[in-house]
Amino acid sequence: MKALTVTNLHASYGPNRVLCGVDLPDLTPGSLTAVIGPNAAGKTTLIRAIAGLQRATGTVRFGACDLLTASWADRAQHIAYMPQHLPDGLSLSVLETVIIPARSTTNPFAPADQALQDRALRILHKLGIEALALRPLHALSGGQRQMVALAQAMIRDPDILLLDEPTSALDPHHQLAVMRCVHDFTRAEQVIGVFVCHDLNLALTWADRVVALSDGRITASGPPDQVITPDLLADIYKVEGRIERCSHGRPMLIYDQAI
Ligand SMILES: Nc1ncnc2c1ncn2[C@@H]1O[C@H](COP(=O)(O)OP(=O)(O)OP(=O)(O)O)[C@@H](O)[C@H]1O
Ligand SMILES: [Mg+2]
Repeated sequence: MKALTVTNLHASYGPNRVLCGVDLPDLTPGSLTAVIGPNAAGKTTLIRAIAGLQRATGTVRFGACDLLTASWADRAQHIAYMPQHLPDGLSLSVLETVIIPARSTTNPFAPADQALQDRALRILHKLGIEALALRPLHALSGGQRQMVALAQAMIRDPDILLLDEPTSALDPHHQLAVMRCVHDFTRAEQVIGVFVCHDLNLALTWADRVVALSDGRITASGPPDQVITPDLLADIYKVEGRIERCSHGRPMLIYDQAI
């Protein structure tokens, strides 16, 4: 089984060191990992470095493929990345926006075949936004555009799916729909899923594993309920909080106050 391995990853912006020797546990196909941590901890830099969009030193491997030195084409075959901040102003339709990245590894100008269109529509359907297929992207709301960006990443049929705050603009219904979709997609397609999020209840509910990043260093990683603890909340987020079991037996996080 091919795993994603990240060891001793360093990244800087000019003189500012942002990732200081990050080691991740091996991430395996079919698993979903949440990356958590306070603002400016380095989460976006970490997943951009894994995606090859941020200069970094160390090791990022997928099986035998060295992703830090791989060509764009090789990386694009393995990785799909959804950014935290989405470009806007495109006058393409939603359907075109989703189909184009799926063709970019071959010939982006070739006419989309029916199978690809059908696949795009199936993904839009799974996300509950098939009614938007012919709408221009620039006329969508922020949450609608976030779901289109997720569809763009999923259609690439990646081995590794990197999502930077995929639910940050979504209402509760769409948060649940998106997390269900990402969870089922990683399982069914044996994808290595990684998502950054600030909603720790989503991480508790959906992730197989949580990695906590603070000041460019991993402070904890493991099963969600072992990583997201009152001590971690106080330590890296400076908040007092509790994890309690709800009436369905699921762990729920309650924040009491900022420290
Ligand atoms: N393009 C850039 N140029 C210079 N510094 C940057 C750049 N992007 C990020 N930084 C700095 O790097 C640090 C880490 O930023 P990063 O975006 O990785 O944080 P993050 O954990 O994703 O935060 P957030 O939760 O707010 O999205 C921050 O101090 C930030 O100011
Ligand atoms: Mg970020």
